[in-house]
Amino acid sequence: MELKKIFVIGAGTMGNGIAQTAAVAGYDVTMMDIAEEALNKGKATIGKSVGKFLAKDKITQAQHDAAISIQTETEMDAISEADLVIEAATENPELKFKIFADMDKFAKPGVLLASNTSSISLTKLAAATTRPELVVGMHFFNPVPLMKLLEVVRGLQTSDDTVNQIVEIGKTMGKEPVVAKDSPGFVSNRILCPMINEAIYALDEGVATKEGIDTVMKLGMGHPMGPLWLADLIGLDVVLFILEILMNDLGDDKYRPAPLLRRMVDAGYLGRKTKKGFYDYD
Ligand code: CAA
Repeated sequence: MELKKIFVIGAGTMGNGIAQTAAVAGYDVTMMDIAEEALNKGKATIGKSVGKFLAKDKITQAQHDAAISIQTETEMDAISEADLVIEAATENPELKFKIFADMDKFAKPGVLLASNTSSISLTKLAAATTRPELVVGMHFFNPVPLMKLLEVVRGLQTSDDTVNQIVEIGKTMGKEPVVAKDSPGFVSNRILCPMINEAIYALDEGVATKEGIDTVMKLGMGHPMGPLWLADLIGLDVVLFILEILMNDLGDDKYRPAPLLRRMVDAGYLGRKTKKGFYDYD
């Protein structure tokens, strides 16, 4: 089947980044969200991003125009037109299971169902559908238009053909796909979140200031952002959620979330999205 129409579910940071990347790559993209306001905000973000790329000659006028004319949709049954569905909704297991059941209900038979989840088991998501062999993880990284990696996650039931197709689609979208097993945190968050957690322990123990810790990792290890700055970008609630999955599913205390991380989440200091995390964003 020739793949033309991609439906992206969720117009938030990841959803609009994926929709933009797919549209620039030449796919016919529809971005879906239940909230009209989220769709408008998502389209505005895409407009700004492709405007920057066009100004730097990194994309053509046609690619820019394709991205700004992405269609939007609020009703789930519209995905009956999709050749591929990529779910990028909020990282909430109950919500994702519900969306996957709906995707399975409305998408044509044979259509692949992908999830951008960073932590939920693909095997479990696949089991919520009648086409588990066609369910796969497409884990993109923020900011999606700039980050080259695509982690392709295979659940226990995912077929080789599904994985191969997604790897090829990922390359067409300009990404470098790496295939990972459905194991807690996959590769990316299995390694990234414990590093961030350790940075939070170090901060809490007064080993250095937040700026000091971030500078060590930037200048000493060549990371583009320090771990505390990056935690604010990802969202402290998301980091905590992933660490809890690592600790519970791998059954190892070495993933125990730093108490300071829990306190910050309890306080509603979630990072950039609440304008306060380890840093202030006012
Ligand atoms: N669209 C278009 N252009 C953009 C952009 C966007 N969305 N975001 C930034 N840019 C442009 C900027 O305008 C800037 O352009 P100029 O050089 O012309 O000024 C350029 O990109 C570089 O941006 P910055 O100068 O702001 O900063 P930078 O050089 O540090 O690069 C970065 C930004 C690529 C994000 C870099 O800091 C980086 O790689 N950071 C690490 C990000 C990361 O680790 N992401 C993964 C998070 S984990 C995740 O997503 C998944 C999970 O499961 C938790």
